[in-house]
Amino acid sequence: MPDQAKKDLDKIEDCVIYSREIIKKLMEFSRQSSMCKEEINLNRVIDNSITFLEARCIKEGIKIVRQYTENIIVSADPTQINQVITNLTINAIQAMKNGGKLIISTRKNSKNVILSIEDTGTGISSENISKTFMPFFTTKDVGEGTGLGLSVVYGIIQNHNGDIKVSSEPGKGTIFEICLPNICSNVHPNVYQGERT
Ligand SMILES: Nc1ncnc2c1ncn2[C@@H]1O[C@H](COP(=O)(O)OP(=O)(O)OP(=O)(O)O)[C@@H](O)[C@H]1O
Ligand SMILES: [Mg+2]
Repeated sequence: MPDQAKKDLDKIEDCVIYSREIIKKLMEFSRQSSMCKEEINLNRVIDNSITFLEARCIKEGIKIVRQYTENIIVSADPTQINQVITNLTINAIQAMKNGGKLIISTRKNSKNVILSIEDTGTGISSENISKTFMPFFTTKDVGEGTGLGLSVVYGIIQNHNGDIKVSSEPGKGTIFEICLPNICSNVHPNVYQGERT
């Protein structure tokens, strides 16, 4: 085969693989409408999700630190929450090329359950931080990122009536914090809790 034809075929193969990734992500994105909510133990879902990434973390010199609060129950689609944790964890791993620490913590207050995923990676510049949740925004090479991971995460959290925030310090690391409604809240919305005079 002529050299030029070989080069062209390689390019076509790369583009096809890249397109496959985009289609896969878009399908995940569009599947959000059919969600199947149930009461889930968040710590258990996190453990299941990161089991598949643990070997990769060890290989890449990344220490996983779990800081869980017991009994965190949320009403959510476990498959979608798994997707959220996986996407955020993969981003964190990709940001720690020279190893580091991945801290996953859960806590709750009367209104919300809070899940945070923190890394000690490259961080995100102030110029890029507002773009992180935008579809197709990526700083990664073709083949490593499509820029859809965080859009999928954002969509899933919105559909669960939650919220997601990012804070980052370039050179130090990044924290993604997710709030979901606390279904075990002691404060009943219809009960008057204020002071009576
Ligand atoms: N933990 C992180 N540390 C540093 N930068 C991050 C982190 N998470 C996201 N980013 C930045 O936000 C961009 C968008 O992330 P997003 O997950 O949406 O897409 P991606 O990782 O580039 O591609 P993919 O579609 O494969 O997830 C990344 O390219 C990266 O620049
Ligand atoms: Mg990603």
